[in-house]
Amino acid sequence: MDKKNIDWANLGFGYIHTDYRFVSNFKNGAWDEGVLTEDANVVISECAGVLQYAQTIFEGMKAYTTADGRIVTFRPDLNGERMEQSAARLEMPVFPKDKFVEAVLKTIKANEAYVPPYGSGATLYVRPYMFGSNPVIGVKPAEEYQFRVFTTPVGPYFKGGVKPLTIRISDFDRAAPNGTGHIKAGLNYAMSLHAIVDAHNQGFDENMYLDAGTRTKVEETGGANFLFVTKDGKVVTPKSSSILPSITRRSLMQVAREYLDLETEEREVYAEELESFAECGLCGTAAVISPVGKVVDHGKEICFASGMTEMGPVTKKLYETLTGIQMGTIKAPEGWVVEV
Ligand code: PLP
Ligand code: COI
Repeated sequence: MDKKNIDWANLGFGYIHTDYRFVSNFKNGAWDEGVLTEDANVVISECAGVLQYAQTIFEGMKAYTTADGRIVTFRPDLNGERMEQSAARLEMPVFPKDKFVEAVLKTIKANEAYVPPYGSGATLYVRPYMFGSNPVIGVKPAEEYQFRVFTTPVGPYFKGGVKPLTIRISDFDRAAPNGTGHIKAGLNYAMSLHAIVDAHNQGFDENMYLDAGTRTKVEETGGANFLFVTKDGKVVTPKSSSILPSITRRSLMQVAREYLDLETEEREVYAEELESFAECGLCGTAAVISPVGKVVDHGKEICFASGMTEMGPVTKKLYETLTGIQMGTIKAPEGWVVEV
């Protein structure tokens, strides 16, 4: 199969139209079989639930070409499970996990020509999503929904690849204590747009959000969870019921324990203790692990010992082990890598 003529090594994180997408509709209480289509346009009522009251959820995953030329994806069952939880929280019908995995694999397969080659530094990003499609004017859940999956080849999420980021503690909140921070709802990202534009305007790469209730504890950024490394090499991640349970973060914590023999801890992390860490990273499907060199807290600079030129040593080992697992050069735990 011939690959598309794309400059893989210079891709950013953007949308490129690929050939096929999966579409399934929910009507009269049931999902249809779903089909692959070449039609990238969505036609819905001007009054569709998604357009009026933001009833939409999504997932983000990637397909990789392994060192021996297979096309694989990473823990799709966990994305399927998380989408079920997102749907339940927004009163949307569940798209069953096994059907979700089937649809994702089918869509990747159909767009095989767009899966970047091994070693190119690029991957095929996969975006499953679902939205309320019928007219809704009183505030209530829609009755009809569409589930879709599209793909787009991507490079690094942050420009500059692995150069450490400078982030700021945000005065805007991302998620309320009993709100929707733990699910992947489009509304969480709309909430973060002003904060991210403002951060960029002020020269920061991202926002570090604190818990909205007390504004003392570290939560996450707009699109990734945090990992910290203590000066004695323990990997720490914030525990909170209002952050997204990142599949990358959960995997990295297991990699730290089982592959790198490191101690790990999921606990509340106070902004006050940031200075005590040696390394900091952002982790997620898009971010992979992006090192953070500096956090700015209202003018006060907290600089991690790992510095502003490269990844810290533990972050680097985590990065290399995870990407090795994903690209098939390191043996994966049972069920993590699924062949397309
Ligand atoms: N946190 C937020 C807010 C995200 O949008 C994402 C991206 O999916 C993550 C964390 C990382 O999650 P995952 O590792 O499952 O991609
Ligand atoms: C992902 O990592 O897949 C996400 O959805 C994050 C998004 C900010 C691109």
